[in-house]
Amino acid sequence: MALLELSAAELMAWRRAQLAAGGRAVDLDWLLDLGGGLRWSVLQQLYLDPRRSVVLERSLEQLAIIWKQHLDNHTPLQHLIGRCPWRDVVLEVSSAALIPRQETELLVDFALQGLTRQPFGCWADLGTGSGAIAVALARALPDWSGHAVDCSLEALALAERNLQRLAPHALWQLHQGSWWAPLRPWWGELSLVLANPPYIPDAVLDQLQPVVRDHEPHLALCGGHDGLNACRHVIDGAMQALEPGGWLLLEHHHDQSDAVLDLMSQQGLQEVTYKSDLLGIRRFAMARHP
Ligand SMILES: C[S@@+](CC[C@H](N)C(=O)[O-])C[C@H]1O[C@@H](n2cnc3c(N)ncnc32)[C@H](O)[C@@H]1O
Repeated sequence: MALLELSAAELMAWRRAQLAAGGRAVDLDWLLDLGGGLRWSVLQQLYLDPRRSVVLERSLEQLAIIWKQHLDNHTPLQHLIGRCPWRDVVLEVSSAALIPRQETELLVDFALQGLTRQPFGCWADLGTGSGAIAVALARALPDWSGHAVDCSLEALALAERNLQRLAPHALWQLHQGSWWAPLRPWWGELSLVLANPPYIPDAVLDQLQPVVRDHEPHLALCGGHDGLNACRHVIDGAMQALEPGGWLLLEHHHDQSDAVLDLMSQQGLQEVTYKSDLLGIRRFAMARHP
């Protein structure tokens, strides 16, 4: 990739001009970082020392075209750049799958904090999308075997590229199909299952920001009338698919905690617990096979 040197003053003038056209500074700085290779910390130093020069991986003209596409069409910058930082990796992303969200990093943290002490086990990521959760589990648990499931072939192709690049030596397999169905041969053996299923209620879908509603796959968003269709499928199969003592962890919408915990208890799962996001909102549910 050609490196382009320019003065801090030039960059700052360009930045002001882009923001005058619209958009949020935080997004433009994200573009400079991921698309231009200008780390945010380096950008901050320019305010203190405007005589410095900087080196970019893309020209300002190229970055301006991307910014305009983002402003004109609400296209997510992650789609335009094709990459997204998530946990300790940079994932390839596309319109085939949900852009991995920061809160889902917490779902993985909860799973890895104390639930994975056994040396070997079998994990699954139901509705893997970009493969974000599967990549994190495969990297953290290289001696376990893992399964990533999605019904979308396009999403699975993306997940496969991310797993091959970021967890090439771990034991993982991809499966196309609906939730637990493709894992039937492993039913009763799964130690740790994570899912970030589609959970947006139908009525809320139209109110989402265009950057989400018009660009992310509806298969990854639509949870049906009450948003819980996919959660129900996943929870309904857990008693059959988990091994005794195995864990199920789910991400859900901000107002679904009570309903999801009830569904887990009704199925006979034990140690049913909620977990909160960084704002203190109950966004995760976990439970265990007896
Ligand atoms: C909210 S996205 C989560 C993607 C990824 N796990 C993440 O956290 O970024 C939900 C995923 O579930 C998949 N999905 C939807 N219905 C499904 C089904 N019946 N069986 C398997 N996967 C499904 C979608 O294709 C999508 O990739």
